[in-house]
Amino acid sequence: MNNKAKTTNQYLKPFNTKRNEKGNLEISNCDLVELAEKYSTPLYVMDEVTLNNIIEEYKDAFKIYEKTRITYASKALMTSSIAKIFANASFGFDVVSIGEIYTLLNAGIDLKKVSFNGNNKSIEEMTFAIDNGIDHFSVDNFWELEKLNEIAKSKNIIQKIHLRITPGIECHTHDYIKTGQNDSKFGFDLSMTDDALDLILNKYKNLKLTGLHAHIGSQIFETQVYYDEVGVLLKEVKRIKDKFSIELNEINIGGGVGITYTKSDNPPSIYEIANLIIESVKFHCTKYNLQEPVLYIEPGRSLVCSAGFSLYTIGSTKDIKGIRKYVALDGGMADNPRPSMYQAKYEAEIANAKQGQNFEKVTLAGKFCESGDILVKDIELNNPQSGDILCVYDTGAYCYSMSSNYNSAQKPAMVLINNGKSDIIVKRQTLEQIVQNDVIIDRLK
Ligand code: LLP
Repeated sequence: MNNKAKTTNQYLKPFNTKRNEKGNLEISNCDLVELAEKYSTPLYVMDEVTLNNIIEEYKDAFKIYEKTRITYASKALMTSSIAKIFANASFGFDVVSIGEIYTLLNAGIDLKKVSFNGNNKSIEEMTFAIDNGIDHFSVDNFWELEKLNEIAKSKNIIQKIHLRITPGIECHTHDYIKTGQNDSKFGFDLSMTDDALDLILNKYKNLKLTGLHAHIGSQIFETQVYYDEVGVLLKEVKRIKDKFSIELNEINIGGGVGITYTKSDNPPSIYEIANLIIESVKFHCTKYNLQEPVLYIEPGRSLVCSAGFSLYTIGSTKDIKGIRKYVALDGGMADNPRPSMYQAKYEAEIANAKQGQNFEKVTLAGKFCESGDILVKDIELNNPQSGDILCVYDTGAYCYSMSSNYNSAQKPAMVLINNGKSDIIVKRQTLEQIVQNDVIIDRLK
């Protein structure tokens, strides 16, 4: 068994976060005030050193089981450079759209280690994925089985698939990011798998089923759920073996590992999770007399979140005496919709140097036209003033990828930092891009 005291997902801040001699916050030898000046705010920043650390931890934690395949759930953060970092680390990808596939291809990454998830893949998406040599689909429902078989048949190929099942496991996270319970829009209910097997084995001759897939939810702090999930998947493999005389030799347990967003969060380490998952694989394989399967894992958030942070500039403030002081930022729900969607909590601090300490409790408001656009409620900040640079930690996952152009906001740039170097990996949207798809029809001219 492996072990390491603490893994990256358990830290609140990226590695090498400190105050420099000027009193400014510095991460990976980059002064955050200088970054804000150079690239303007709002700004997404990813620290490559922290990112490489978590990548190595995942590899190290799962090396005890040689048949592990790590596929990065790219919905957490998909850009061409981020994809390159994972491809260079020999990770595969879990994609959910033609756009994510296109990004990989555009970055020169082939689809040999890519699985395609999603509950309503379009014909166009399935065709595009097959034409570009995707490794496998995680098929979600009967309609997809039928359509995928038709497409594969028309191209005279046999397409490898997994079946996504709902394992009936509830985890304790926000309702919107739970997926493993029976009442879910994703996957085959266990009572449906026999019908799916019948179709695949007897009718859909252009599909080859090699494994089962499940994903129970996201931002999970419990560990036992993974042990149980592996147990459910292998029990199903055993049942299918007995009933249909085929032994599926791949299981995919999805993603979900939690990270530390606030001081009170206490997620498990990657080693703890890995040890438990592998223990469950070995135990259940022995119990059911199965071969040890190829094990796919699909982490998203835990691979990128802790490496990311966002910089904002403070603008207006509003002090409602005895009630609340609002401190407004130059971004908000368009670049980070998570607080308004999931009541997500974040830690933040003022990046520029301050004379002395004068902490006060304020509420960080976004600039968008919604009362719900509050980034952090009731946070203690050191004398926040207009013009200060604010750093919000742990915005690496599901912020850029869920950002919008609400209020015709330009999406911020993203910078990759590494030990004193900083490079733009996503440019800030231009005003021309805000209107580039608009069409003014003749009769309106
Ligand atoms: N595999 C499947 C099939 C998934 O649906 C997901 C996430 C993952 C893997 C990766 O899960 P992760 O390791 O990132 O927890 N927008 C929400 C999270 C939605 C997660 C969707 N599925 C948020 O901001 O919290």
